[in-house]
Order: sequence, then C-alpha cells, then structure tokens
Amino acid sequence: MFKVIASRMIVPNVHILTLEAPEVAQEAKPGQFIIVRASEEGERIPLSLSDWDADLGTVTVIFLNIGHTTNQLSLLEAGRSIPTVTGPLGNATKIENYGTVICMGGCYGIGSIFPIARALKEKGNKVITIIEGRSSYLFYWEDRFARISDKMVHITRDGSKGYRGHIDRLPEIIRDLDITVDRMIINGCTYAMKRGSEASKPLGITTWVSLNPIMIDGTGMCGVCRVSVGGTTRFACVHGPDFDGHEVNWDELLQRRKTYVPEEVVPMRTSACQRKCHQA
Ligand code: FES
Repeated sequence: MFKVIASRMIVPNVHILTLEAPEVAQEAKPGQFIIVRASEEGERIPLSLSDWDADLGTVTVIFLNIGHTTNQLSLLEAGRSIPTVTGPLGNATKIENYGTVICMGGCYGIGSIFPIARALKEKGNKVITIIEGRSSYLFYWEDRFARISDKMVHITRDGSKGYRGHIDRLPEIIRDLDITVDRMIINGCTYAMKRGSEASKPLGITTWVSLNPIMIDGTGMCGVCRVSVGGTTRFACVHGPDFDGHEVNWDELLQRRKTYVPEEVVPMRTSACQRKCHQA
C-alpha cells in the first residue's frame, strides 16, 4: 500500500496529491509518469509526475477531477493509502541545451511541465514559460515558475491575465518577446497540445508533446495506449509519452480518449452521495 502524504484541491477542480513511493521517487525523471489505482477494484490510470523528493521518498501528481477514478483520488485524505503506484514509467523528456525553449502547460499540465522547465533551466536554456487556462484563478505554482523562468507569459480565455484567447496567440507572443525559439514543449490536455502544435508548425518550431491516452499496464503489453505518429502506430507508454506534436494524428487520439466517457463521467455525475458518504 502507498500512503497519502498530502492531498488538496489546488485550484477549482484540480488536485495535488503527494504519495509515499520511495522507489519511484529515487528513479523519477522529468516527463515520466506513474500508474495508480485508487482502490483494489479500481481502474489503472496514468498521471504525469509534477515533482518528487528522493530524500523523503515522495512523488507528487496534479490531476483534473474529471471522472470516476480521479474523483476517488480527489477524496483521499492524508494518512490513507492506495493499492497501486507503479513507476516511474515512460521515457524521460530529452533535456539538452537547445537555446531558447518555450515550456507550455495548461490545467494539470502546468504541474507536469514544471520539472521539465526546471531541468531545462539547469541545463542552461533560456526558458520561456507559458501557462494557459480559462481564467487567472486557475493558475497555480506561479511562484515556482518565476524562480526558474527567464520570462513568464499568461494566456486566459477570458482575458483576466496576460493574452486573451488561446495558444493561437503564439506568433504575437514571440514577436512581443523578440525571441527566436529553438524548441517548444507542451503538457496538458490533448486539445491544448493539438492547438499548440498547430500554432507552432507554421513557425517551424520543433514541438514535443506529452501524450496522455488511456492506459492499462503502462509497459507496452496491452496496446490500449496506441497512437498514430507520422503514420506509424506507437505505444505512448513505452515509445513516449513525448512525441513530435506536428506528426501526431490528433483527431484519432481525441476520439480514442472518449471511449469510456459514459462509464467514467456518468457515474460521477449520478453518484452525488459519494462525497457526502465519504465525509460522513
Ligand atoms: Fe498498455 Fe501502453 S498502456 S501498451
């Protein structure tokens, strides 16, 4: 069993969970993920690592409460335990001195892009952090990013902070900052990664994304996480999770991610007693 060290909602509907998993913490690298189960009968879901502490033996993940399992995870309190934490899984993000790198994160991807941005900065890159969301109240860890970023940019759908709109504003942002970008790395929801890749393609910026398809084993055996990249079938868990965003078949990925929406979302919305029962 893996003990919950800390758990809280960091911004509306987004949760941060720190788990005791010394062996995972010892080996963790930026860009990797873990697979967790919230209960013995529960499904296995992948969550990107947002941080870890090898000395304390802990790993931290940030996730959106969007379905049955993430709802179960969101209800965990410090001191409780979960049966499965497997990892670290996937290939680490390639950290080199590229020059100027845009690290973009949205929603739970703000958390998972953080260790990547930190490692890139330590490697000597100029790090431009872009965080995006529906509104400014959905941003978190801005103080952490400020310490490791050469420049921080905000994009909000409602214009409450920074640029109004989507990552489509990328050409304007680059022009305003007066920079040449050598690489872009995007973490977050599939739609944000798709849109970011579409924005960077005409600018000729090499763009890597961290794909998050449905997974079961996370070790290349079940095939559930298959994605099409450059016309070739790849398994996100063992060949990724990082892929060239300009080569990903986004429509297929978006479609496959919807496979279990009824099983995931419907029970969550019809089980209003879950939270009350848990709190009772
Ligand atoms: Fe089973 Fe990737 S999760 S092959």
